[in-house]
Amino acid sequence: MKNYKNILTETEGAISIITIDRPKQLNALNKETIAELHEAFDNFDKDEKVRAIIVTGSGEKAFVAGADIKEFMNFDSVQGRELAAKGQKLLFDFVENLNTPVIAAINGFALGGGLELALASHIRMASDNAKMGLPEVSLGVIPGYGGTQRLAQIIGKGRAMEMILTAGMIDATTALNYGLVTEVVSQAELMDAAKSKAEKLLKNSPKAQSFAIKAVNASYYKNGFETEKDLFGQAFATEDFKEGTTAFVERRRAKFTGK
Ligand code: CAA
Repeated sequence: MKNYKNILTETEGAISIITIDRPKQLNALNKETIAELHEAFDNFDKDEKVRAIIVTGSGEKAFVAGADIKEFMNFDSVQGRELAAKGQKLLFDFVENLNTPVIAAINGFALGGGLELALASHIRMASDNAKMGLPEVSLGVIPGYGGTQRLAQIIGKGRAMEMILTAGMIDATTALNYGLVTEVVSQAELMDAAKSKAEKLLKNSPKAQSFAIKAVNASYYKNGFETEKDLFGQAFATEDFKEGTTAFVERRRAKFTGK
């Protein structure tokens, strides 16, 4: 098994587990982590013995607290668009279209790119301490890893609009009510629950499952993803983006001017 810097991988029988392992940064997704995740998902997907993949976060606090704000805060709009496009290609669109079913075991904060990774997964379950949200507009940017599209697809446009525009977080019970996750258990029980969900996948035809993933995904228009990338990039050219990301690092409330 390959050693990665930012993720841990293991396989138990036909179930592989990928754990994002930057707990001090609440498992935020920097470029290197995204590249490692791509490689791990790709390798497991190509391995015929692997029939289900569980993705989770290290530590008790976070699944993933988003894209790494410190890495992109000085990007311009071209770099911003590129960040979204590359991330979606390597990880978010990639996971959504894998042949092997992916279960997101959301063990704490799933914010921004973290929730977007869960949204790209095929099945989502959460621990009862989990908090989910797309807080990007509080940073002067928009969700750029597919969140504007997939959140609306999964919980409906009205609830998605409210979550995205308020930048608020919802708890696990609300997420269950919204259909954002299909099961909530205690944090101690989460991995066992994810594994028993994965076991249920093993008895069915892997070929048919991979066709089913493609068929379900086929009904969603993809133009929205292009618009999202364009607008994500444009947001990087605004004063609000500079203010929002700087305020985050300086641990103060952002003062937005709308410019
Ligand atoms: N990027 C980079 N670093 C992050 C991070 C992120 N998304 N989230 C947390 N961290 C870091 C913090 O900066 C802090 O690092 P230091 O100890 O070096 O200062 C460490 O993780 C612990 O975080 P906090 O001290 O902030 O922990 P807290 O308990 O006070 O707050 C939190 C927890 C509410 C999740 C808070 O960390 C937070 O709001 N994080 C940012 C969430 C966010 O805005 N995510 C969206 C990112 S943008 C995005 O994802 C764009 C996209 O769609 C492509």
